[in-house]
Amino acid sequence: MEIIAPVHPGWPLVGNTLAVARDPLGMFMKLQRQYDRVVRINIGGRNQYMVFRPEDVKYVLQENHRNYGRSPAFRVLKRFLGEGLLTSDGDFWRHQRRLAQPAFHRQKITVLASTMVEESAAWVAQLRQGDLSGPVNMSQALMDVTMRIVCKTLFSTDAGQRLDGLSHSLETLNVLANKTLLSPIKWPTNWPTPNNVRYNNARRQVDALIYGFIANRKRTGTRHDDLLDMLLYAEDEDTGQRMPDAQLRDECVTLFTAGHETTAVSMAWTMYLLASHPAILKRLQTEVATVLGTGASESLPPVEAFRTLPYTMQVVQESMRLYPPAWAMSRMALADDHIGPFRIPKGDTVVVSPYLLHHDPTNWPDPDRFDPDRFAPGADAGRPAYAYLPFGGGPRLCIGNQFALMEMQILLALLVQSFDIQLIDGKPIRPQPLITLRPNRHIWLRLTARL
Ligand code: HEM
Repeated sequence: MEIIAPVHPGWPLVGNTLAVARDPLGMFMKLQRQYDRVVRINIGGRNQYMVFRPEDVKYVLQENHRNYGRSPAFRVLKRFLGEGLLTSDGDFWRHQRRLAQPAFHRQKITVLASTMVEESAAWVAQLRQGDLSGPVNMSQALMDVTMRIVCKTLFSTDAGQRLDGLSHSLETLNVLANKTLLSPIKWPTNWPTPNNVRYNNARRQVDALIYGFIANRKRTGTRHDDLLDMLLYAEDEDTGQRMPDAQLRDECVTLFTAGHETTAVSMAWTMYLLASHPAILKRLQTEVATVLGTGASESLPPVEAFRTLPYTMQVVQESMRLYPPAWAMSRMALADDHIGPFRIPKGDTVVVSPYLLHHDPTNWPDPDRFDPDRFAPGADAGRPAYAYLPFGGGPRLCIGNQFALMEMQILLALLVQSFDIQLIDGKPIRPQPLITLRPNRHIWLRLTARL
């Protein structure tokens, strides 16, 4: 039997827009408590179905994924990311995903992980040499290092001294994409507004550099251990064709955008949680000391060492449970469908929220408590697979998930090996749901170098 989903009452014309804009997480949690399975709300004149249960989320993202395409929000992002993996859809996306997937194979990640170790160790050494008498802005420091890592793993030596200029321009595009997506007014793109002028300048610089790298590699035939190399030489199984330059550009900008802020934000939350839970920090430091040794050393640990840090991984997983950087995802129904008994009309949006799933007491007792042992071996018995999805699920699962987990393990291990960390005050930090789930203010911590 098909029934109409319950509708949450709203105001004429604006529906539930204001309530959601005021406090998205609070409002979503209230709706979850009140409606339990599915509810229809109206945001910005569009009907959106919020889906709360893991089995229904699995249905949308995996079992019937062909009926759920990119929602209109992704159209805005296309201006910045073009037809890259994040924004494209249908057969075009499937083809691109097949081409790009091998670049994220475990073996390839191991190659990229050496770059991560080098960059992370250099960054930690720089922190140690810096002024530690006052607090350190960890949010900013982590944005810087994750940006370096993503640029180096994409373009390695090509970026060279131009790394700072390139990352600056890419970051400008990223900030403007965020602003445009969140702004209720979308100015025409050909108007000379300050943001459009900044966008055009940054885009010109990014394109000139990326197209320059591509042309240079094609001319010289030089091979590199980086993502651009893997994408450049990826061939279609049937036709043997490679990606055109414009597509390579779109994929590079997409990987930068999708891969850098998410990781930085998640690491900042992790550091905040550890500074607030000294016993967990101690246990983590003990594991890291056992595997990597104590304090800073001259030689870099081998990449494989970071794969044998199970508690470090549990800390990262639990931090992403409490604060999933991708806190909500949306899809558009391509044809009429139903979720359980509830009708979902063609053209309407379905919203799933990892944040809600991760805080649902049905699957996570005492959900607000930071407890990495929830991810200890065997602790997930009886927990539905889609109760935890920091990287999404189904065919559109984050392509960079192994990359991100490796990067976070490396950064975290090297940080806690080198430093004790403390909060500078007891003021609570709350999640602020923008495109990623950022802390509502920068996280400042006191770092004390360990011997
Ligand atoms: C903690 C870090 C990260 C988190 C939490 C995260 C989360 C996600 C999520 C939830 C999705 C699915 C979105 C959807 O289904 O609508 C996604 C997709 C994607 N992510 Fe990540 N991501 C992270 C890091 C990375 C990294 C490091 C890269 C690349 C180097 C990356 C590249 C991508 C791409 C290209 C997609 C689109 C995949 C597709 O649709 O085929 N992500 N990410």
